[in-house]
Amino acid sequence: MTITISLAGQTALVTGAGAGIGRAIAVRLAQAGANVAVTDIVATAAHETSELVRAEGREGLALVGDMTDPRRVDDMVEETVRHFGALNIGVNNVGMLGKHGAAPYLDWSSQAMADVVAGNLLATMYSCQAEAAAMIPAGRGGVIVNVSSGETTRPAVQLAPYGAAKAGINHLTQTLAIELAPHRIRVNAAAPGTTLTQKVAEAFSAEHRAALQASIPLDGEFSAPEDLADLVLLLASDLAAHTTGQFLLSDKGAFLSRSRPAPTTH
Ligand SMILES: NC(=O)c1ccc[n+]([C@@H]2O[C@H](COP(=O)([O-])OP(=O)(O)OC[C@H]3O[C@@H](n4cnc5c(N)ncnc54)[C@H](O)[C@@H]3O)[C@@H](O)[C@H]2O)c1
Repeated sequence: MTITISLAGQTALVTGAGAGIGRAIAVRLAQAGANVAVTDIVATAAHETSELVRAEGREGLALVGDMTDPRRVDDMVEETVRHFGALNIGVNNVGMLGKHGAAPYLDWSSQAMADVVAGNLLATMYSCQAEAAAMIPAGRGGVIVNVSSGETTRPAVQLAPYGAAKAGINHLTQTLAIELAPHRIRVNAAAPGTTLTQKVAEAFSAEHRAALQASIPLDGEFSAPEDLADLVLLLASDLAAHTTGQFLLSDKGAFLSRSRPAPTTH
């Protein structure tokens, strides 16, 4: 018996797919046969990823906008359905540590807190709502995958607003899994191991990077964007047909490791 994962004939939308992990997810879903709408706040980045989708022989659609703006989110999902005729898979990858990075809780300004909550939790809430609203009338079910963080598995020291926002995504995922189950829409959360995308690499000192790497149990290597893309593909596929409301890490055991340093050492 040969098992293949195919998303042929399906349409996916990946948010924040102009770089890093989101880009790898968009390309992986295209490699599995899906047409992919790519959203990003940076126009050139969205168009570049859309070209990569086309290079895989699928149709790509670049959508430029801020996922923290609920009207724009609704518009982008509607544009996807207008263009492709359906939306089957929504991957809500937009997220950020915030430009202030790690800081003791008392040093977080109210604006920095609001930015991090909006850029992680609210963006995901708006996307989930718009995607479900597009999937339900079509009556064909669907899949939503929300990108979360391993920081939700332990206290996110000096990253409290980020940890709380991502933990909110996990709770949202569980709740929507139940609310949307009657419509055959599965909702799961997936979190990467530390992945040295540009912004993450810039945020780490050499010492913190070395300590983090040394604490990765499986092979002592950081994750690549494609590693989370593989988990998202699995969750999007029928191989996960009975999996909903779950939070899954692709981190080589890093967050279970006792030697993993806290973000305070950034
Ligand atoms: N890289 C890691 O180690 C790591 C670890 C845990 C969780 N994550 C999560 O994975 C996801 C992707 O992380 P990454 O490292 O690839 O990020 P990244 O910064 O490399 O890429 C994020 C992309 O999203 C876009 N974006 C950001 N805010 C946006 C908004 N409001 N509207 C539209 N587009 C927006 C950016 O322009 C960028 O292209 C995030 O949710 C992040 O929190 C990453």
